Amino acid sequence: VRSVTTHSQLPEEHQMVFEMCRRFADEELAPNARTWDQKHMFPTDAINQLADLGLMGINTSEENGGSGLDALSYAIAMEEISRGCASVGVIMSAHNSLYLYPVQTFGTPEQHEQWVAPFASNADGPLKIGCFGLSEPGNGSDAGAASTTATKDGDGWIINGTKAWITNAYEASAAVVFATTDKSLKHKGISAFIVPTDAEGFSLGAKEDKLGIRASSTANLIMENVRIPGNQLLGTPGEGFKIAMQTLDGGRIGVAGQALGIASASIDCAVKYSLERQAFGKPIANFQMIQKKISEMTLTRDAARLLTWRAAQLKDNGEKFTREAAMAKLAASEAATMCSHQAIQILGGMGYVTEMPAERHYRDARITEIYEGTSEVQHLVIAGDVIKEYKT
Ligand code: CAA
Ligand code: FAD
Repeated sequence: VRSVTTHSQLPEEHQMVFEMCRRFADEELAPNARTWDQKHMFPTDAINQLADLGLMGINTSEENGGSGLDALSYAIAMEEISRGCASVGVIMSAHNSLYLYPVQTFGTPEQHEQWVAPFASNADGPLKIGCFGLSEPGNGSDAGAASTTATKDGDGWIINGTKAWITNAYEASAAVVFATTDKSLKHKGISAFIVPTDAEGFSLGAKEDKLGIRASSTANLIMENVRIPGNQLLGTPGEGFKIAMQTLDGGRIGVAGQALGIASASIDCAVKYSLERQAFGKPIANFQMIQKKISEMTLTRDAARLLTWRAAQLKDNGEKFTREAAMAKLAASEAATMCSHQAIQILGGMGYVTEMPAERHYRDARITEIYEGTSEVQHLVIAGDVIKEYKT
């Protein structure tokens, strides 16, 4: 695959995804994002529309009811959708890259029928939503320290424990849950399970009241003696940590796309304002200190976008992309934080009030440096891979 560096160089298929998502974001998401944020309201209609557009199964195979598009399409779609509403972005990314990806990749044909197809499309009934339970109250970055347990029970498993901070918890019909069968084995004792959220013994904690991405739900998954039949083990026993890590490699491309969308929305808002706002008798866009901010914001966003597209293209080519996905997520999340910070500065007082979207972008940006691995974790992944290369 030829590498692409600007939207105009994208293959026709990707340009179509870009145009479709851009229009949807401008028409359906951006005008409503403020209300959803203020009311902490899950955007049910918008998610159903995303399903109509094939975006709730964007990378899932057509055989399993999805759109069968590649990782580059996903990165582009995530940026545009999140430019319209970053909450919709995280709902879409947790569902696609954290739920559908592992179940499609590691699941059996029988698991695909039950746990992928109804989640990838609304063609045969209302769309089901998925979530991903890795983090726990006692451990997030140290994902291998899982204390949720899975105990063999006849041909099935009994799961006990609490998963923390789970995106889409309140809307999900099923979760991919990581649990240990033997804590002394550390990460090698972890297995992955498909857990339906209506299982006996399964309950949700209170919805977290968050700084940003407030239209998405985040809550604990609490499992008390939840019995899972043997055919809901995902992959093989002990394979869970690798499933989680491989899933997060792809997920980080999605979060990078989300962060790029927030950065782009911040740039749009700031540049448009700078052309209209007058100070000292001229538009503030005429001042070189404002121009420097606009330059830095655009440079940082574009550099992060190239890293994101590189990671996506490596994934599409079947090459290793762990380091590159971590770089993309790190650079894009820092770009989102910087761009949304500077957008507020360019808007002055208007940046600080909810009448303009800049303050929401600032709040939404912050999480991108925390979830799917904090910035510190991305540095660990990048440095670990570089050092490994020099050792071999
Ligand atoms: N792909 C496949 N296997 C991998 C891998 C990868 N990317 N990374 C590591 N592994 C394998 C290693 O090869 C090793 O295998 P062996 O035991 O066979 O040698 C094993 O996993 C352990 O590797 P490490 O020793 O490197 O693992 P570690 O315990 O030091 O942890 C870590 C590494 C990068 C810090 C990891 O724990 C991590 O990514 N933590 C962050 C967790 C995270 O991102 N959580 C996000 C939750 S989801 C979320 O937040 C949702 C949302 O956005 C909406
Ligand atoms: P900790 O791991 O306790 O880290 C605290 C601080 O210490 C951080 O700055 C961290 O970078 C630093 N630190 C930790 N270890 C090291 C180290 N070795 N070197 C240097 N610094 C280190 N999880 C899911 O499983 N599924 C979800 O859907 C999900 N959605 C989320 C949605 C939201 C809104 C939020 C807030 C979180 C979500 N998470 C989800 C959890 C998220 O992935 C974790 O919060 C994140 O991985 C960090 O874990 P922690 O909060 O336990 O922080």
